[in-house]
Amino acid sequence: MSTGLLGSAGVKSEGKRRLRSREWLDTPELYGWLRRAAFKAQGFSELAYEGRPIIGVCNSWSELTHCNAHLRDLAAAVKRGVWQAGGFPLEFPVMSLGEYFMRPTAMLYRNLMSMDVEESIVSNPLDGVVLLGGCDKTTPALLMGAASADAPAILVTGGPQLKASWRGEELGTCTDCRRYEQELRAGRITGADWADLQDNIIRSPGHCGVMGTASTMGAMGEALGIALPGNAAIPAADPRRARLAEAAGRRIVALVERDLRPSAILTRGAFENAIRTLHAIGGSANAIIHLCALAGRVGVDLPLRLFDALSRTTPVVADVKPSGKYLMEDFHNAGGVPAVQRGLLPLLRGDVLTVTGRSLRENVAGAEVYDRAVIRPAGDPVSSEGGLAVLTGSLAPNGAVIKSSAASPGLLGHSGRALVFEDHDDLTRRIDDPDLDVRPDDVLVMRNAGPVGGPGMPEWGFLPLPKKLLERGVRDMVRVSDARMSGTAFGTVVVHVSPESATGGPLGAVRSGDVIEMDVPRRRLDLKVEDREIQRRLEEAPPAKPGPTRGYGLLFSRHVTQAHEGCDFDFLVA
Ligand code: FES
Repeated sequence: MSTGLLGSAGVKSEGKRRLRSREWLDTPELYGWLRRAAFKAQGFSELAYEGRPIIGVCNSWSELTHCNAHLRDLAAAVKRGVWQAGGFPLEFPVMSLGEYFMRPTAMLYRNLMSMDVEESIVSNPLDGVVLLGGCDKTTPALLMGAASADAPAILVTGGPQLKASWRGEELGTCTDCRRYEQELRAGRITGADWADLQDNIIRSPGHCGVMGTASTMGAMGEALGIALPGNAAIPAADPRRARLAEAAGRRIVALVERDLRPSAILTRGAFENAIRTLHAIGGSANAIIHLCALAGRVGVDLPLRLFDALSRTTPVVADVKPSGKYLMEDFHNAGGVPAVQRGLLPLLRGDVLTVTGRSLRENVAGAEVYDRAVIRPAGDPVSSEGGLAVLTGSLAPNGAVIKSSAASPGLLGHSGRALVFEDHDDLTRRIDDPDLDVRPDDVLVMRNAGPVGGPGMPEWGFLPLPKKLLERGVRDMVRVSDARMSGTAFGTVVVHVSPESATGGPLGAVRSGDVIEMDVPRRRLDLKVEDREIQRRLEEAPPAKPGPTRGYGLLFSRHVTQAHEGCDFDFLVA
């Protein structure tokens, strides 16, 4: 893959304008003098910054975010590029969101991190910024913050892990962790096998190596035109990633000179391209929430019905886990996002402007598919429709989402008895009870896991199957909740039910034994109970659990929007 940028020798000035950073440095009063003294205190002479744009390298590196633990190396590459092009790079930390460590969920803090990013950019003498992210929520938080700040910005993600190999099988986090956990609970592998798998499953730096949320959001950066072509899939350990970061460092200097801001990139056309690309790669359902939130920051309206309309006319062409067979390293070797987009050009808005200074069409004109098993032709796709479907009905008046490409085809039209769990604790307590009254054709329902109820809408939507059914060989059931699902998960799982139960949504009215009907081809999700009875049950429902009474939790519960609106804070929307 060649972007035409990785080998360029620097960027020529495209015209002079007064730089924002000069407002900090060229003031006659004491603080202008002190700011120059502050640079001198770090060993920078005036030659380091005089006449140069100051480029922030916004780094979500953290040892608490293992997927981003290599980002300081990548920051060094970005800085090389900035120096090469005549800029002055300054690295700064922002909050980091580690998917494995943060409780109850990293999603609770996405908006907080976005505020950190926005305010760090706005309050400092920065002319442009390169955003370094990777793990699931870090990328949307960076994009949301940079969009609100609206200074020239380029996204560089950390890249996926290399493929793991275990007992002759190629594996990727965390799709295969989840698959083998089911086998462990079913008694098909031993505790020793499980421990051995842990030794082998993560083979390199980088984020999860499947088309989970991290890879999907990297692809969204490319599709939106705010990352360089090829960014999403180059493995973290591949030196081509450092060279791409270096190219981004050079390119941001040119963006500053042209004053090319996110508001000129993140247009309605760019979002339509992102949605098409999301469907074509079989991307994560979480991307719907993040794209809605990002669109809200720049005043673009993205109703859920648009995602569904574009899904019906976009084929899934990437055969990548969890929807398909291959891993992100294979996807990169097959040509990555540019190759997918070149094939999709008849469906895309090819004229949109990107951070390369060129149109999307020009960016991908030279892209090729090198492995037709991994990136299929549009005429012979993995699936003729997109990988995500939006359902509405009496159970989800404002919508719900299913990753149909990762579901069991035989369950996409299903009617079954509801088995209700009040919340995640209730589920954990009862799911493996040998006396649980459950059948394979039941619909597992969990509530109180939405934006307010979770709080933060944890990734609990991949409800574990009851052990006694796993032991009988059952590997999928219809599951419905107001939670989210990890982008690496799979199965017939309906998530993002809106409005959520904690704010009075009809999910709160479901009782075990009711019938739930799901019809994905017709995009319906219905509770087969009279409307009046649903209303009566909701009115008689016990009051919601008391929420947080102070601090960030209180701010979150008062201002978070629902899933179909992106779960942003209402006061951050443009
Ligand atoms: Fe970070 Fe999966 S845990 S991307």
